Amino acid sequence: MDLETLLFSQGFGSRRQCRGMIAEGRLSIGGEARTDPHADIPLTPPPEFDVDGARWMYREKAYIALNKPAGYECSRDPQHHLSVFHLLPPQLAERGVQSVGRLDQDTTGLLLLSDDGAFVHTYTSPKKKVPKVYLATVRHPLDDAQLAKLRDGVLLHGESKPSAALAAERRDDHSLELTVLEGKYHQVKRMVAAAGNRVEKLHRERMGGYALPDSLAEGAWRWLDEADLAALREK
Ligand code: URA
Repeated sequence: MDLETLLFSQGFGSRRQCRGMIAEGRLSIGGEARTDPHADIPLTPPPEFDVDGARWMYREKAYIALNKPAGYECSRDPQHHLSVFHLLPPQLAERGVQSVGRLDQDTTGLLLLSDDGAFVHTYTSPKKKVPKVYLATVRHPLDDAQLAKLRDGVLLHGESKPSAALAAERRDDHSLELTVLEGKYHQVKRMVAAAGNRVEKLHRERMGGYALPDSLAEGAWRWLDEADLAALREK
């Protein structure tokens, strides 16, 4: 791959902009400025390169985990709040990264993003049945009848079939751990309301076998590696 295509593929701007950046000496590899946009670079192993002093690694596709804070919308074109894309380097939006499903603006926790259309589709589709684990803080003390309703299934407004949680456990009187397979609009809030309680705070802790890492601060993001993607596929 030539150096212009390398930067272009990783979201550094139009081909013309990438050519310009290289000509200005802003790209270096192994500590050496590289100013010929047509020079070739092998892709195996994936090359590391610096742009304006920041280190990047070539990635054919981007797979990202974000610890979403409250007050951010998952849309790129948000209506009332900032977009989660404000928390990511602009290169990621430029290369077409999108969120894998959506969390409400007031929901926190694990949000995946990718520019791999098949991956986004797979993990958004209800058919894939990826377990998603949420921690909900609820207004009223939890009781066994509510937990049983969540496990047995509650009929949500506008739905013809009940929605059941794969698991519903009390962590304490006001904390509920809920595992759901689908990703319907406001699903957890609607299920908890239908079971007779109310979600005051919602946090996604896990998707498949991939848990939000403790080391990932609120608002921070990280690349997912092969082991993370394999964990995600676990049920
Ligand atoms: N369920 C909800 O109600 N909201 C979310 O953000 C995610 C799941």
